[in-house]
Amino acid sequence: MKQLYANFKMNKTSAEIKDYLVKLISRFERDDVNLTLCLPFTSLSLGSYLLSGTSINIGAQNLSDEECGSYTGEISGAMLKDVGVSSVLVGHSERRAKFKENSKVINKKIKIALKNGLGVVLCVGESLTDKNTLKTLETLKIQIEEALKGLYENELERVVIAYEPMWAIGTGHNATVREIEYAAKVIRKVIQDDFSEKAAKQLCVIYGGSLNIKNISSLINAKGIDGALVGGASLDVNNFISMINSIK
Ligand code: PGA
Repeated sequence: MKQLYANFKMNKTSAEIKDYLVKLISRFERDDVNLTLCLPFTSLSLGSYLLSGTSINIGAQNLSDEECGSYTGEISGAMLKDVGVSSVLVGHSERRAKFKENSKVINKKIKIALKNGLGVVLCVGESLTDKNTLKTLETLKIQIEEALKGLYENELERVVIAYEPMWAIGTGHNATVREIEYAAKVIRKVIQDDFSEKAAKQLCVIYGGSLNIKNISSLINAKGIDGALVGGASLDVNNFISMINSIK
């Protein structure tokens, strides 16, 4: 079973999402693909209503690092759970870079998500400078260790790690099968060293960054990879359905 996530980012009104979901529901037929749509906050309720009774899950793109209280404009883990969200993206590079989310905040968000019964998709990935100076391993190790600090091994069952190199996100330059396999190996080694061999084996590792209809099948089948996270190419429902159907 491949784990497939779509990240809509800050796109689509509720009316547009309704249209999208109606088309997707009638045409999504893969029982070997576990699909989760990470919708904007404003469409989560609608999404969970329309998708109830289907196999498609609802995800969120962010949550607060606080439980509740005087945090104007924030959305809590409990609120996400309440509207039927099953998992949430944490540590996406756009949030790290544009919203200055540091590892302490990411670690708090993960703990709050897990405490509220949500699954977590932890996004990690090196910058172009890291890649060019051969620091991919070091960067991934630091990001993973800081994000997962203080977690119990059994909690890892609800954590997916998405390898999303920053230079590949929204650029049209996807990582190669070789680069993805290397990253998956590094990620599992960090988990093995910090938790156990069993945890490393069971861990779900996915790839994201400039996935499209031409590359998804080979990249999602890279060794050590259990799924994919699609951004821009998921926004057009016809294109996304064709992409899903192209996975061999
Ligand atoms: P992209 O985005 O597919 O548009 O590169 C991936 C992501 O941001 O998760």
